[in-house]
Amino acid sequence: MIMSVLATQSLTKQFGSFTALKDVSIDVREGEVYGFIGPNGAGKSTTIRILLGALKASGGRAEIFGKDVWQEAVEIHKRLAYVPGDVHLWPNLTGGEVIDLFGRMRGSYNQKRKDELMELFSFDPSKKCRTYSKGNRQKVALISAFSSEADLFILDEPTSGLDPLMERVFQECVAQEKAQGKSILLSSHILSEVERLCDRVGIIREGEMIETGTLEELRHLTRTNLTVKTKEPLTGLTGLKGVHDVREEDGTVHLQVDGEELELVMKHISGYGIVKLESAPPTLEDLFMRHYEGGGAER
Ligand SMILES: Nc1ncnc2c1ncn2[C@@H]1O[C@H](COP(=O)(O)OP(=O)(O)OP(=O)(O)O)[C@@H](O)[C@H]1O
Ligand SMILES: [Mg+2]
Repeated sequence: MIMSVLATQSLTKQFGSFTALKDVSIDVREGEVYGFIGPNGAGKSTTIRILLGALKASGGRAEIFGKDVWQEAVEIHKRLAYVPGDVHLWPNLTGGEVIDLFGRMRGSYNQKRKDELMELFSFDPSKKCRTYSKGNRQKVALISAFSSEADLFILDEPTSGLDPLMERVFQECVAQEKAQGKSILLSSHILSEVERLCDRVGIIREGEMIETGTLEELRHLTRTNLTVKTKEPLTGLTGLKGVHDVREEDGTVHLQVDGEELELVMKHISGYGIVKLESAPPTLEDLFMRHYEGGGAER
């Protein structure tokens, strides 16, 4: 656990007889963006609430900066910034006042960075919070977080409510924090967000981690999509190991190939004289869908 900024080991959480988390182990290393992804109700926020010391785990361990999240929450929070997906603010304060209040509560915050961020997020700090839209409330939390001098950012679906332009600003902010060696736990079910930003990804489903690794590692578990046209009619594909979903359309063959069988399949195809070959990399989306459909049992 020593090298990690944040680590959980076999974390469990029961709500009465309902098991919301079962043996959840994740770790976020220094300078890393860790994508915590899973469908609705998978247990992302429950895990995060435990990490924040807002909810007591039923079992297992969770540490941030080497400190126990429940026992030493106050110490941990001095170096931690958190953004929820659904931001609640004091209705009678303006956005600017709330940002300043958050900053003072934390003790350390960068005034210059705050002004930059307000500009980047096109945020008007002069309105009362009760009048802000969901996206604007989100911006208050994001500006507060990124103008803090936290070492760890815990972001629970932080961009729900942001438009695509603002989403991009958010991504730049994350990249900048990372470049400064900060660590980020980013929960999401937006796969494109995770794919672009994260060094490693953990996939949670029904309270269990079903996959962890770098995007490269996870991609090996997925299939490459091939489109081929050959001089001779291409036969014998369906009998090959690792070949899936073979379809023919106007003399062009579409197929999916498991990463580890790609070389043999290519050898087979090249024997027929390749005229055209297109290969599409497996997307995280494909991987995710396979887990959704197959219950993760296909591995
Ligand atoms: N206080 C609670 N009491 C009982 N059940 C709860 C409580 N909090 C969460 N749960 C249940 O635990 C499971 C995990 O919920 P959680 O909010 O962690 O999911 P999530 O991955 O954050 O989902 P989403 O993407 O929708 O935010 C859900 O089935 C939820 O209903
Ligand atoms: Mg949630």
